[in-house]
Amino acid sequence: MQPRVGMTQNHQNLSSSPPPRPSPKAWTFAEQALAEQEANHRRRELRSLTPIDTLHICRDGQTLLNFSANDYLGLSKHPQVIARAVDYTQRYGTSATASRLVAGAFTIHEQLETQLASSLGHEATLLFGTGFQANSTVIPALVRNDAKQTLILCDRLVHNSLVKGILASGARFIRFPHNDMVALEQQLQKASGKYQRLMVISETVFSMDGDRADVEALIALANQFGAFLYLDDAHALGVLGPDGMGLAAQRPGVDLLVGTFGKSCGAAGAFVACSAQLRDYLVNFCAGVIYTTALPPGTVGAVSAALDLIPAMAAERQHLATEAQWLRHQLEVLGYGTGGSMSQIVPAIIGSEAETLALASHLETQGYLATAIRPPTVPANTARIRFALSCHHQREHLVGLVAAIASPASAGILQSP
Ligand SMILES: Cc1ncc(COP(=O)(O)O)c(C=O)c1O
Repeated sequence: MQPRVGMTQNHQNLSSSPPPRPSPKAWTFAEQALAEQEANHRRRELRSLTPIDTLHICRDGQTLLNFSANDYLGLSKHPQVIARAVDYTQRYGTSATASRLVAGAFTIHEQLETQLASSLGHEATLLFGTGFQANSTVIPALVRNDAKQTLILCDRLVHNSLVKGILASGARFIRFPHNDMVALEQQLQKASGKYQRLMVISETVFSMDGDRADVEALIALANQFGAFLYLDDAHALGVLGPDGMGLAAQRPGVDLLVGTFGKSCGAAGAFVACSAQLRDYLVNFCAGVIYTTALPPGTVGAVSAALDLIPAMAAERQHLATEAQWLRHQLEVLGYGTGGSMSQIVPAIIGSEAETLALASHLETQGYLATAIRPPTVPANTARIRFALSCHHQREHLVGLVAAIASPASAGILQSP
């Protein structure tokens, strides 16, 4: 084959000085980075397990009581949820087969969006493959060509997917101290008049702390300063708010809320709830909608069944609240900080990575899955065990857990408390 003219010229230009050969050493970065992680007690590993039932898993031949899952209502094993996932799979197949803008916009996707919108009291909703995908692509779509005129104010502890979205948007951003509405107001005041667009971003229930944002105050501040309010309700959906539909449900002052299906709904995927016009805008400009295969029918079926069940689960929500309160109290009696936890997520904050890992290992020997959460998932010196409760946990389960935490063996592990 004859080289094209451009190629020949390029080749001639380069042939006078041969390009530097890449050094094989440049690719030892993985080894170095992993060794560093190990030295800092931050190395992560994927340890496989097999689910047994709503509460138990099997790992390395041992049955463990699970305190680390986000299946707060146990719906991933609910017969109605499973049945509708199977039914939709049998009727519509295992895949949506394309992006919704191509051939993947099934009627069941639209039906689920309508069901969600009416349960949430928002005009419209739009489905996403995951919460990570929603947050990391919706924020850049909202900012779009106006990065220079936009300032984003986000809570210091927001989830990594929100941080990814903010960074990808190219907008200037400031992180306000966690849940500090006075600081947020001051920052909004300072920014007012300097930017054409202000956006406030927070979670409603914080994923690693289990504490809650003051949604009322966020709405009031956003309203006062004409800011766009973006709330991630992932850990409140199913557990808190009207009919368990989250803390941003039925709140007209929230411009956009993100919810996920991989937690209380016992499935996978996510959605945003917003105005019909904004939904239309995202269909046109959000890469996470345009360039991705739509949610599989089985997942759509599971979520629609979960949404039918959630409003009637008030007793389960009350049980979760009662048991979480009991666990917080017991941990505090043992000397552990539980931060501002006010939900089914109860951290026992330890501080050191090594001690947290040692406690998690000790609990595993006692029959409990209670995963250590370390920086950078949480701030430095706040490594913790994050206990996530299910409505299927009974008091005797928690009594056993607390006894294992309080045992002399774990006291030997920990310098603090
Ligand atoms: C607050 C928050 N937002 C978003 C996500 C991401 O959701 P998904 O697991 O669906 O990607 C998570 C999950 O870890 C989360 O905790």
